[in-house]
Amino acid sequence: MSEYTITVIKNENPKPKPAADKLKFGKYFTDHMFIQDYSEEKGWHNPRIVPYQPLVLDPAAMIFHYGQTVFEGLKAYRTEDGSIKLFRPDKNMERLNRSNDRLCIPAIDEEFGIKAIKHLVHIDNEWVPHAEGTSLYIRPFIIATEPYLGVNPSSTYQFIVILSPVGAYYESGINPVKIAVENEFVRAVKGGTGEAKTAGNYASSLKAQEIVAQEGYAQVLWLDGVEKKYIEEVGSMNVFFKINGEIITPMLNGSILKGVTRNSVIELLKYWDVPVVERRITIEEIYESYQNGGLEEAFGSGTAAVISPIGELAWEGKKMEINGGRTGEISKRLYDTLTGIQYGSVRDPFGWVVDV
Ligand code: COI
Repeated sequence: MSEYTITVIKNENPKPKPAADKLKFGKYFTDHMFIQDYSEEKGWHNPRIVPYQPLVLDPAAMIFHYGQTVFEGLKAYRTEDGSIKLFRPDKNMERLNRSNDRLCIPAIDEEFGIKAIKHLVHIDNEWVPHAEGTSLYIRPFIIATEPYLGVNPSSTYQFIVILSPVGAYYESGINPVKIAVENEFVRAVKGGTGEAKTAGNYASSLKAQEIVAQEGYAQVLWLDGVEKKYIEEVGSMNVFFKINGEIITPMLNGSILKGVTRNSVIELLKYWDVPVVERRITIEEIYESYQNGGLEEAFGSGTAAVISPIGELAWEGKKMEINGGRTGEISKRLYDTLTGIQYGSVRDPFGWVVDV
């Protein structure tokens, strides 16, 4: 399969690039996109890089009705010597195929997926921004395209990759975010699609997020969908707590996303001999450790969010100010080291960074 040849049609009308200080998250898109089709007869075929353009889909396409779709998120980084690097793209392609399996979408060739991403980034290389804290966000996704209203897996799909120059995900930049624990709604349940990167998980999170935003919170922290007791994730990031010197993150249970940054944080902490444990942890335990002074830091991890310190956690009317609302020592060390590895200014002992 990997011998596919990617056809390239160059964009003859490139767009002006946004100024680095105007970059937010996911607002601007580059000049090209990658597309590959799937049919039962031909499998994945016709890979091409074409000018960035609207898609033409039948209104009955199954993506619109039953949400059969998956996506990924990774970034390309501009290093000091001007070269461009990707961070662990193999992990994203591996997870894309796990999401594909959950959503009954045919697997892609992971190596070819990386090759397609590299080729696209190479063509749009001038869009990889230079300013500190900026990068080119890569959004691979797959949609069900068969026009059919019966509820079963589509027989045709498109695998698409688009690129977006980005700055910080949160409006607060790299400053600590305020997060509210969600008590009413749930994001995912055991046996559901929580572990998959699929649109429905994000659509179902919007209501809760809209409500807490009115009170000034950036996002909600989800509890488990059964007992509403155990910490799960934030939706755009996994979470970590430092309690009495130990870093704790909820263990993967099928409803928590298996974050690439989450895994990289755990690997880094182990490499530094900082105690780190993956286990179930309740919101009561977090609150008790806050009350007795043991809760030292909290932070989220994600491709878009990088390492986002949590300065305030609200739960049932109680407000926990963490580390005086400031970025904690371990959050800062992780942020500096991870971004240092990604931007090539810190040695990468793990072989995580790859050339485009
Ligand atoms: C990412 O961090 O890449 C994500 O996919 C989170 C996203 C929903 C912004």
